[in-house]
Amino acid sequence: MEKINDSLCRYKGHVFITDILKVEHIDSLPNFEIQDSDVFLVTFPKSGTIWMQNIIILICESDSTDKAEFRNNLEKMPWLEYQGRFDYCSRASPRFFTSHLTPALMPTGLMGKKAKIVYVARNPKDVAVSFFHFSHALKKVGSPSNFEEFLQEFLAGDVYGALWFDHIQEWHTHRDEYNILFLTYEDMIMDLRSAVEKISHFLGRDLDEAAISRVVEKATFKNMKEDPKANYEFLPTETVQGKFMRKGKVGDWKNTFTVAQNEMFDHIYQEKMKDLPFKFIWEIN
Ligand code: A3P
Repeated sequence: MEKINDSLCRYKGHVFITDILKVEHIDSLPNFEIQDSDVFLVTFPKSGTIWMQNIIILICESDSTDKAEFRNNLEKMPWLEYQGRFDYCSRASPRFFTSHLTPALMPTGLMGKKAKIVYVARNPKDVAVSFFHFSHALKKVGSPSNFEEFLQEFLAGDVYGALWFDHIQEWHTHRDEYNILFLTYEDMIMDLRSAVEKISHFLGRDLDEAAISRVVEKATFKNMKEDPKANYEFLPTETVQGKFMRKGKVGDWKNTFTVAQNEMFDHIYQEKMKDLPFKFIWEIN
């Protein structure tokens, strides 16, 4: 295990929050037994994780009477890599998990297309800016003194989750081994309804028009911000002193990146992403 700073460490190529990492749990994950009905949400941090978590839960609960079982979305769809007080093996089906891991650390049973994975990608400039603000809110992920310092850490993969480029490349390269739906944050911003329809179809829960409308309404930035099950304001203030729901926009990076930082980033992006077919939307007017 390699120490990155007082809060973070690298283990098997991934960057974890040191004080909640249990190495034995990570080592056991490849053998974690997968069920066909399991649903996994995978993202790089700050890519719209809690947004997609909420959408998946709303879709899967829309025909269920058993909504009060979990107090909030974290309990309903916990992080696979941090087992904490939840017993994952004995959870009732269908089980829901969230993860920031790369394929190499995931349960091998997911290959061969058992279970379903929803992957959400977001343009990395907005990820970096969202992450920078979040680093001040969540002390466990470090507190860079300025954006330049954070950007250098982000581009070196010395941030929670490791290197953004590796994450997207590894999931995309291995996509044919999994039953996976790729979506982008920007597509969700531009047309939330179509995204919800796609997700509900992928999850095998084709909802009628009215049910889709209810999910879309509850998943808007404005309504999620006020939803205590979904907005993560239930986390204790000693853990998070800021908001998961910050601006919810595409292109906010333009308010933070300098011209020089943007040129440097574009250069690295073009080099690293040259073999990937991703075309991100960088701003919406
Ligand atoms: P910003 O910091 O740019 O506002 P994650 O859940 O992976 O930590 O991602 C957090 C980002 O998703 C934040 O971005 C947050 O505002 C945004 N987000 C969360 N819910 C959203 C929603 N309903 N609509 C749009 N953006 C949302």
